Amino acid sequence: MNYGLGGKIAVISGGTSGIGLAAAKMMIADGARVFLVGRSSERGISALGILDAGPEAASFVQADISTVAGCREVAEKVRQEAGRVDILVNSAGIYREDWLELVREEEFQEIMDVNVKGTFFLCQVILPLMTEHGASIINIGSDAALEGNYGCPAYCASKGAVVALTRALALDYAPRVRVNCVCPGDVATPMVERQLAAGDYTVEEMAEPYPLGRIGQPAEIAHVICSVASPLNSYMTGAVIAVDGGLTAK
Ligand SMILES: NC(=O)c1ccc[n+]([C@@H]2O[C@H](COP(=O)([O-])OP(=O)(O)OC[C@H]3O[C@@H](n4cnc5c(N)ncnc54)[C@H](OP(=O)(O)O)[C@@H]3O)[C@@H](O)[C@H]2O)c1
Repeated sequence: MNYGLGGKIAVISGGTSGIGLAAAKMMIADGARVFLVGRSSERGISALGILDAGPEAASFVQADISTVAGCREVAEKVRQEAGRVDILVNSAGIYREDWLELVREEEFQEIMDVNVKGTFFLCQVILPLMTEHGASIINIGSDAALEGNYGCPAYCASKGAVVALTRALALDYAPRVRVNCVCPGDVATPMVERQLAAGDYTVEEMAEPYPLGRIGQPAEIAHVICSVASPLNSYMTGAVIAVDGGLTAK
């Protein structure tokens, strides 16, 4: 696949796992240099091993993007090592299931801090490094932003905010930077593995509502992320793109 990402500098929060890692792999194959952001150095080192791309193509930045200080550390490291950013993928996210009456303040805060505040402030600190024409931000939303999902109102609220933020930034930063949001349905990543491990439902039950009859694979979301980031995709901004096997088409 040639997305035209050769020579591009990409920062991928949550690039050490799941969808972010799959996007990193595809971008590197297309000639981009990627910075993977995550909290766990163990996961970071393991991701670099999986990518097996060499330090000129892939670096790990250990940071917690749920704090402004963490976001600034990311920007500073990338500024020092690469001098600019062409693509920011905000894939760092956490999922929690709890009915409204059970959600504690700390749990609500944690989801909002990672999914909303982290996305918001990483955009804030990376945008000044997007100095070249055609830069692109891809936020990762969820089908939970587009329709109601049972039993996870805090997660739904956080992803709804990511969609609204995407549209606001698309207006404010046009024509310099394109800002779009990719909304996956269930995808076979460690996040979903943890949901399944809780034992409340099986993967077959999870797949049941999908018109395509299955949950997604990380590479299927990564392909859309790379397509959205591609310079060939120069007329798309403020878009909210469902990649969910038809789930939200119903
Ligand atoms: N998988 C799905 O079914 C699905 C569906 C819809 C939307 N999504 C969204 O897609 C995105 C990626 O999900 P995934 O399935 O790839 O999840 P995942 O496999 O659990 O990966 C999450 C990534 O985010 C990083 N992360 C979490 N909190 C962080 C923090 N505070 N600071 C920095 N990095 C942090 C994790 O690394 P550390 O833990 O080491 O920090 C990891 O690299 C998320 O936004 C998720 O909400 C996923």
